[in-house]
Amino acid sequence: MGSHIKSQSSVDSNFTRHLPKVELHAHLTGSISPQTLHDIWLERKGQDPSMELDDPLKVMSTEKEHFNVFTFFPLFDTYIYNLITSVSSIRQSTLAVLQSFYADGVRYLELRTTPRAVPGTSISKQIYISTVLDCMDEFFQSSGNDMSIYLILSIDRKNAAEEAAQTVDLAIEFRNQGRPVVGVDLCGNPARGDVSTFRVAFAKAKDAGLKITLHFAEIPASSTEDELRALLSYQPDRLGHVIHVPPKFKEEIVEKKLGLELCLSCNVLAKLTEGGFAEHHFGEWQKTGCPIALGTDDVGVFGSSLSNEYLLAGQHFSLTKADLLGLSRSAIECMFGGNEEKDKMYKLLNDFQELKSASP
Ligand code: IMP
Ligand code: ZN
Repeated sequence: MGSHIKSQSSVDSNFTRHLPKVELHAHLTGSISPQTLHDIWLERKGQDPSMELDDPLKVMSTEKEHFNVFTFFPLFDTYIYNLITSVSSIRQSTLAVLQSFYADGVRYLELRTTPRAVPGTSISKQIYISTVLDCMDEFFQSSGNDMSIYLILSIDRKNAAEEAAQTVDLAIEFRNQGRPVVGVDLCGNPARGDVSTFRVAFAKAKDAGLKITLHFAEIPASSTEDELRALLSYQPDRLGHVIHVPPKFKEEIVEKKLGLELCLSCNVLAKLTEGGFAEHHFGEWQKTGCPIALGTDDVGVFGSSLSNEYLLAGQHFSLTKADLLGLSRSAIECMFGGNEEKDKMYKLLNDFQELKSASP
């Protein structure tokens, strides 16, 4: 009874930080903090003073107007990818990203990234992936296996069919090397591309037993009947964002109980949604019975950690500590890492709940 009463109390940042959390929607490059990018920039500038890229602390300052759907995607292609061009900077940034999720209380992480070769260097897509996987393995070992880490490979909407199929081949090739690759994602600028291009790639992923997650209905232009019908035909296991979903697709999603990756700060700050946090579609989906996993999307760009996302959900939707524990449990249902991982996470949450109810 005592524990019941305590868990009804209002949420605070101490609670959300210590809550063992599951992060399922985080893009590696978008998760790199401005400070880590600045450190990499300083080193590059030291080696080559004529380098023309601006200081990340200026480019990515949160005091400026936030990135929106038009300015956000070029940030990667024209800036961050030009800054991170060596194995050592891929390593430095990946390890820093893992460390910051861990420090924020994430205990199960599925990180996603788009395989990328670095022009003018020996870094191929394979080298890129194996570098990221090595970092994951190293971090997993050094954290005493405290944070489980998996990789998802992203297909970018601007990819041609062959490149998308190649990403699936890479996921299959690397699925059991180091930390496992558990699935494939469709991401990228939602204003671009025709998703029917990826039919063969996702069919191949499904046949190979890889899980599928798709960025879904992010902007009105990517929420047409044709697009959403095509995406659902790829039999996704989870959907990201689900913002502009027409009622009949909503019904289908609810019927299939698809896992939903919802990213509050990213949507509000990038103005993908209207009415601020209180009007975020988390409120609607929450009533449907679909399991929800809050995610940061791009914490390096939007500056809101996963524990802050739980706090925001708590504050804007009047959720109690018990509700946030429930939300964390619903994220477990969406995990791609298998039942053992789920059981481990449920246990962590149960232990946390007991500890909280025992503490004064
Ligand atoms: P990377 O895949 O690790 O290089 O992370 C950066 C990439 O993630 C970007 O180039 C985008 O394609 C993708 N991305 C990050 N945030 C979003 C989003 O909100 N919607 C769609 N794609 C995204
Ligand atoms: Zn995303």
